[in-house]
Order: sequence, then structure tokens, then C-alpha cells
Amino acid sequence: MGGYPLVSRLLVRGGRVIDPATGRDGVADVLVEEGRFASIARGIDARDAAVLDAAGMLVFPGFIDLHVHLREPGFEYKESILSGAGAAAAGGFSAVCAMPNTDPVNDHRTVTRWIADRAREIGLARVYPIGAITKGMRGEELSEFGEMKEAGAVAVSDDGRWVANGSVMRRALEYARLFDLPVATHAEDETLSGRGAMNEGAVSTRLGLSAQPPEAESIAIARDLALCELAHGRLHVCHVSTARSVALVREAKARGVRVTAEVTPHHLFLTDEEVSLSAFSTATKVNPPLRSPRDAEALVEGILDGTIDAVATDHAPHHADEKAVDYESAPFGMVGLETAVALFHTRLVATGRVPIARMVELFSSGPARAFSLPGGRLAEGSDADLTIFDPAASTVIDPRSFRSRARNTPFAGVKVTGLAVSTVVGGREIYRRP
Ligand code: DOR
Repeated sequence: MGGYPLVSRLLVRGGRVIDPATGRDGVADVLVEEGRFASIARGIDARDAAVLDAAGMLVFPGFIDLHVHLREPGFEYKESILSGAGAAAAGGFSAVCAMPNTDPVNDHRTVTRWIADRAREIGLARVYPIGAITKGMRGEELSEFGEMKEAGAVAVSDDGRWVANGSVMRRALEYARLFDLPVATHAEDETLSGRGAMNEGAVSTRLGLSAQPPEAESIAIARDLALCELAHGRLHVCHVSTARSVALVREAKARGVRVTAEVTPHHLFLTDEEVSLSAFSTATKVNPPLRSPRDAEALVEGILDGTIDAVATDHAPHHADEKAVDYESAPFGMVGLETAVALFHTRLVATGRVPIARMVELFSSGPARAFSLPGGRLAEGSDADLTIFDPAASTVIDPRSFRSRARNTPFAGVKVTGLAVSTVVGGREIYRRP
């Protein structure tokens, strides 16, 4: 087994270090020894260390994405752990959590361990596997949570499908509690959504496409919150996309329910109008679907008031041939690893809507806390994972330059300002912007 090779001493010099977890914001040097943070201070003298010049740059705790599809094992023609972990690094992520809808499904410790080992061997971004809630993600029989946790799983989820049977979900929340694992829910009542191709509203009516009402999500979240309370469990709500969903999570948090929630960049920055504007581009087809402007605004409010804990990409690579079909037939999903941070910075930080420290929190300590992951903070003695960010660098999103094997993004051609220029994992630079 490989592992992350160590650089014995690394000095990240002169950047503005922003770490909301410790309240730090100021110019400092970061000294890394044996893969761990040794010291963060001004004017560190370490003549024998390799130097990363970060003058004019921002230095963050390594960014963490709670929700990606790496497609391996089984769908390597869409993405692999190698290409996905490379895409993560290029997007500024030092760690990602991999959803279990692979083939075979990650519903057993042997699959969990294989994914964790393969990622370590590759040595790019860290990959934390997420085990399936139910065997084969069929929603019937619980997987062995304890064994999967031992093999490296950090959460359980049947992402892509809701656990429709309330009794199974209740038991999942109770069982996961024994191992302190969060249960991540893909909230979608399929009896309401009918797996409709887009959001139900004026736009879907005009376009004549099959559609799912926002209530298919909020009703599912309401049930899961109630079950979480009943089971005294720990719930994580994936890709919250409606105003009502944000309100439900907000109320539940106020009641003391152990719930965390993520939003995606595409639900923040695009609406269902995009299906029409793009002339039915299947790159806009995603589940949950792009919603109304009112919903997107509610997600920003959830970010500002702390209801939302993390920004996650739901990076869902598909082969070009699979997306080159009519809108109704295309698979759901878009890639996000290489655009998320830049889009968030451009749309919400550079515009003054969200403070930079809040952005950092949503990409580091927020996700780390949600899944109890190591990292997410610049603490002396912990693994030296860093994201170095140039707030002034700009580019036009060009899918041809992606490290990901897939190109299915609706953001092609969009100008962004603020880019990850270096990603460091365990004291080793795994990505440097060319
Ligand atoms: O758009 C999506 N794609 N939503 C999901 O829930 C699953 C994902 C996938 O696996 O492609």
C-alpha cells in the first residue's frame, strides 16, 4: 500500500491565513514538518525547508467536499478514483467523500476498504468512502455499518434514492447511532417526483417537460427530520434545493435535532430558467433539479444564517454519449469539483454578499464537523492539508481543461475570479496551477 509520501519540511510563506475554526485571519507563515502543521506564525525561520511562496495569496485549511461520485468501481468510463481525485485537487479540494452508487455498490466492508486503499495508493486528494444505508441501495435491508466504518466509511447514504420505507430509515438512524455515523439522505419522495426531468413550475409547463414539485424534497426532509428526532440519530441532508427545505432544517436545528445540511453551487447559481436558456442542454439536468429564483435566494439566506453547514458539489460525471440524448432520457448529474470554489467566490464573495471567512468555513470546518472528519482546521500537530487560493486570478471555465474524465457542466464559458493555485495534502503539494 502506498500512502502520502512526506516532504520533511515545507514552509508556506507570507500568505494571508484564514482559518475560521481557530479564528485566525492574518498574514503568517505555515511550517509543515513530517506531514503535519508544526507552527503558524509570522517570520518563521526555516532555512532548510522547501518554500512555497504564498505572498498575495490566501491560505485555507484544505477544502473538503462531502458529496462526490467517483464512479469506481464499475463505471470507470465516466470517472475513476484517479481522475476524480485529480479533479478534486485541481479544484482546491484536499479531501472528498465518495458516494456508494458504484458497481458493486459500496454496501460491504470489502468495497469500502478497496476504495480507501486505492485512493491512498494514488496519493492525490484524500478519499473518504460513504457506505450504503441498505444492501444494493434497494431500501430494504440495512448494510453492516460497523464493519464499513472499520474499513474507512465516514457516513452512510443511499444517495440517488430516498429510503422510502420509514421503518427502514428509522432503524438506519438508530443503528448508525451505535457507530456515531451520520445518515446522509437524498430526500426525494418518488411517488411525488416521478423522477421528473426538471423542476415543476411555469418553466416546465412552458417547455412541456416532465417535472418534480419542490414538495417531493421538502416532504421527504420533514419525515427524515421527524425520524431523526425519534431515533436520537444524526442526519445529514444532501443537496438542499428548496426554500421550504431550508426552513425545515432551520426549525429542526433550533429544536436541537442533530442535523447538518449541504447545498451545491448549481442550486445556488442556476435556476430552472437555465433549461430554457440553454435550449434544453442536458448539462442542466440534475437531481434535485434546478429550482426557482426564490429557492436559490433561500439557499443563500441559509448560508448566511448558519442553517447550511457545507457547500458540496454532488460531482456527478457522465460520459458525453450518455448526455447526448433528448432531455427526458439523459441521466441526472453534472460535474462540479473544478468549478465550485471559483464560482462561489465569484458570485458570493467578490460581490460582497458572503464574507470570505464564511466561504472558508463552508468548504472546510463545516464539512469536517458534519462527518466528523480530521482536518478542516489549521491546528498544530494535525495533518497538513492546505488550499492556497489566488483571489485575483481569473479564467473562463473550459471543460476541455478538466482533470475529470467528464465534461458535463452547465458553466462552460462562464468567467470566474478566484482560483485554487495549490493544494497540499499531508505536507505534499498534489496540485499546482499551471
Ligand atoms: O444528479 C444526480 N446525479 N443526482 C443524484 O442524486 C445522483 C447523481 C448520480 O449519481 O449521477
